Formats: sequence, C-alpha cells, structure tokens
Amino acid sequence: RTRLPNFHTLNDVCNALQKARHILVLTGAGISTSLGIPDFRSSTGFYSRMKYLGLDDPQDVFSVDLFRQDPSIFYSIAHLILPPDKACTPLHAFIKLLQDKGKLLRNYTQNIDNLEANAGVRPENLVQCHGSFATASCFTCNYKVPGEVLYPNLRAQEIAYCPFCAVERKALVQKYEKMEDEGSYSRRFEDINSFGVMKPDITFFGEDLPDRYHNFIKEDVKKCDLLLCIGTSLKVAPVSEIVNKVPNDVPQILINRDPIDHCEFDVELLGYCDQAITWLCNEKLHWKIDHPKFEEIIGS
Ligand code: OAD
Repeated sequence: RTRLPNFHTLNDVCNALQKARHILVLTGAGISTSLGIPDFRSSTGFYSRMKYLGLDDPQDVFSVDLFRQDPSIFYSIAHLILPPDKACTPLHAFIKLLQDKGKLLRNYTQNIDNLEANAGVRPENLVQCHGSFATASCFTCNYKVPGEVLYPNLRAQEIAYCPFCAVERKALVQKYEKMEDEGSYSRRFEDINSFGVMKPDITFFGEDLPDRYHNFIKEDVKKCDLLLCIGTSLKVAPVSEIVNKVPNDVPQILINRDPIDHCEFDVELLGYCDQAITWLCNEKLHWKIDHPKFEEIIGS
C-alpha cells in the first residue's frame, strides 16, 4: 500500500476525525494497560510472565490443543487475566465518544476484558474478535453459562466441569484409570482431561474467530472511511490483516506506544494512547472525553 500523498500531519488527522462518519477502530491490549492489565508481548507483558511454565511458546497457554490435553495449565493462569469489574480507560471512553457523535462504524477489539461494555460501547458497535470472558461453554457439549459462573473456579485455579457431562466423564475417567492400571495407556486418552471441562469463550489459537467477526468484517472494511489502530502489535491474524483489506484511499492512523514495522500507516502517533487521545481531543478537536482521568491528564 502506498501511503496517501496528502495525509501526514496532525491537522490531517483532525480533519479526518471531524469529517469521518464510519470509523473502524481496531484495538488491542495496549488500550487497557493504564488500568494495570498487562499487554501480551511487551517485555513485561503477560507472555513474559508465562516463562515459568516452560512451554515451547508462552502463547500456548491459549492453544486449544494444549487445553484439550491439559486444561489445568489454562486454569492455573486465567486468574491473572480476569477483567476488573467496572473500570474503563479514557481510550475506551473515546471510542464511546465516537459512537455518541455517530462516527463509529465498529470497534474490532482483540481484547477479552469486555471493558468496552463498561465504557458504554453498544454491543452492535462492537466485535470481540477473540471472544471474551462474558460467557463460557462446555468443551464437549457446548453448554453455555454466563462467564461469571466460572470466576470462583478460575480464581481458585480449579477446573470447572459441565454438569451435563459429569456422568459420562466419570465413566471415561474410570475406563482410563483401568487402562492405565493394565498398562495399556495411550496418549489418545489424554483427551479425557478436557472432557466436560468448561472453557471461557475466548478464542484460543487453533480455534476459529466468532461468527460475528466473519459476519461483519467484509462489509465493514468496504464501508469504513477512517481506520484507527490503537494499542496493538498487529501480530495475530486474521485481525492483523484488516489493515491491508481497507481500501487504499482510506486514511490509516496508528496510536501505539511502540512502532509497528510490518504495516504502513499514514500517520503514527507513538506514545501512551490515553495521553495521545486526550491531548488530541482537548487541544485540537475541542472534544471532551467523559472520563474522570480526562481532566487529570490535561493538567499533567
Ligand atoms: P500485544 O501485547 O501484542 O501488543 C500490545 C501493543 O500495545 C504493543 O505494541 C504496545 O507497544 C502497545 N501498548 C502497550 N501499552 C500501551 C499504551 N498505554 N498506549 C499505547 N500503546 C500501548 O497485544 P495485542 O496486539 O492486543 O489473544 O495482541 C493480540 C492478541 O494476542 C490478543 O488478543 C491475545 C494475544 O494472544 C488472546 O487473548 C486470545
């Protein structure tokens, strides 16, 4: 993609935000870090904290194959990424502001913390590309429950089981134990470990993205008149590919702490997103973000 020849200044960014009617906002973990939630790939991010598990790749904590073999690994770390109750950041509130101004086409979030809902982003304006903790399902029969039902287990690092699969699970475990006693153990039977286990509806590596993503993305990339990528390293496909699918004449703006070498943007605002967006709204656009930290950041 060749960058837009006449789009590279802050004024261009402001004009685009003023004019746009269908903004596609693509967000990642960086928009929640000001609440103390770690991102994934930074040097102190979530994956760096997973090294003690000794996995080949720390991302495997979200591998569906590993969950199938041993769900206890996910259950041992999930408490670290449980979303906070009511909070949201100025950046989440900015997305809500775009919604209030009738400018938000859709927020595609890779975050599983569901904080967009706390900010008041309406469900129809949101695509949770990697699912969320809002619901959970049985790994075997798909029985669905509200996500909070699992929270006590996740906090206690104890696997939660599906009530409807309990009898069959017990029979399978007995069969497995008998086989082990008889020495006819087979790795195939490791699948028993995940039989009837409840799993938050987070999209794991090896799983397809939610239908909602596929239902909206094709039309949304055609319809959008401005792309804002905020707080994401754009390392995980297919979400990272959205950037290339947006038509060439649509301005693309990055707001991120670190630069992203593998994608081209028209303007890159490198820094902390709460600060960058607060400054832009206050100084340049004269928009007020409805968040308690808005005034605090202006004053700092
Ligand atoms: P990453 O951790 O890969 O990237 C976060 C980006 O946010 C980095 O480039 C940081 O520089 C930037 N960042 C951090 N704090 C920031 C701040 N305050 N202001 C601005 N930028 C900031 O996270 P994602 O791109 O979201 O999957 O990762 C994508 C997916 O990978 C996640 O959805 C997750 C993970 O595997 C699942 O949870 C299933």
